[in-house]
Amino acid sequence: MRFSTERPPSWQACIGCGNEVVETDSHPRCTACGGLLEIRHRPPNLMAAELRQRFTERRGGQPGATSSGVWRFREIVLPSADVVVSHPEGNTPLLHRVALDRWAGIDHVLLKHEGHNPTGSFKDRGMTVGVTQAQPTGARAVACASTGNTSASPAAYAAQAGLPALVLVPVDGVAAGKLAQSLAYGAKTLLVRGDFDDCLRLVEQASDQLGVYLLNSINPFRIEGQKTIVLEMLEQLVWEPPDWIVLPAGNLGNTAAFGKALREARDWGLITRVSRLVAVQAAGAAPFARSFAGGFTLRHRVKAETVASAIKIGDPASYDRAVQAITETNGLVLSTSDAELLEAKAAIDASGIGCEPASAVALAGLRQLVRAGQVRPGDRVVTVLTGHILKDPGLLLRYHQEMDPPPPGANRPIEIDADVREIERVLQR
Ligand code: F0G
Repeated sequence: MRFSTERPPSWQACIGCGNEVVETDSHPRCTACGGLLEIRHRPPNLMAAELRQRFTERRGGQPGATSSGVWRFREIVLPSADVVVSHPEGNTPLLHRVALDRWAGIDHVLLKHEGHNPTGSFKDRGMTVGVTQAQPTGARAVACASTGNTSASPAAYAAQAGLPALVLVPVDGVAAGKLAQSLAYGAKTLLVRGDFDDCLRLVEQASDQLGVYLLNSINPFRIEGQKTIVLEMLEQLVWEPPDWIVLPAGNLGNTAAFGKALREARDWGLITRVSRLVAVQAAGAAPFARSFAGGFTLRHRVKAETVASAIKIGDPASYDRAVQAITETNGLVLSTSDAELLEAKAAIDASGIGCEPASAVALAGLRQLVRAGQVRPGDRVVTVLTGHILKDPGLLLRYHQEMDPPPPGANRPIEIDADVREIERVLQR
């Protein structure tokens, strides 16, 4: 259906067939055609300058949800939100390290570090909105499939809201930090004998048949929250968009959110031009990069394999939305090998910043584009680090302690006797 009277402040629309439903409808997909839904907002009735001022003033205001890096943008995230479930989240730093400029071969690259969120990944920005929206729908429980971060985040937010949480993760390959978080926050954690794509199919069936509220990024409210990564970055750059925004891509929710944020920010006068988006995948899990190389004529699916377990995804759910994001921003999609992403990660870690393996594909991808001459050294670039260094301690220890021969940047620990002369010997080396 389509609203025949004046539309409410926000509603849901299918990006496939255009079907429209009210904001409180809890179906995760379009019930007419199975397509992906998107939240539409009536343009805010404030001038852009006034909006910008509000967003920024709230940051220094009351502690709690009002100054959250998500909810201070509430006019263009979820204006109807009343009782919000907020940690709070967001307000993450935009970092710069000369060592990383050198590594990538560029004059000045900034890193927006989403690992500084409460559960250590960008997922918290979507989850605060998703869990807030679960409440008016009367959900009995919330659920998600995950490669690890998406499960850690609703585990925490559902605990705060007093809602039962169900998370489905592949039995093998979820990083230790993420699994530990889900267990500790009290989510019912199901180890599925299968990969992420199996988990997602299964949880969609559960949401259909058992009435649990789905919190994967096909849920359009997640996308609204994740838009604030871009909004906050634009604000930090005084609303002067960078030439390029480079981000890791797996299930493609974030790529979709970034495209929507740029489109709306331009439509509502917050910015005058959009940045070009670059989505980077791991080579063993790069169906979107393959589709891009073929001009998006075919949607590819693969059996995914990569050390970056967060983005080990073969059939990304937000494909259609992400195609729109890349097309509208004249963007690019590429992939990097596991060796390249590990080298980038070692450089980011050694700069004192640190991130989880999947996050590092962004910087590895940027170096590729600089070497290929597609990004010029003088371009203004922001890369997004999606998760915290401590999410995947297992891979870190293997990289530094075990891999033989030692990979670039490997920092072997040194075992010594309890004797000060041994320390002196190490210092002299
Ligand atoms: N980086 C990290 C650290 C992630 O955890 C994910 C996705 C991505 C990048 C890719 O983002 O899916 O929006 O393209 N993790 C999901 C999860 C799939 O279950 O935690 P995307």
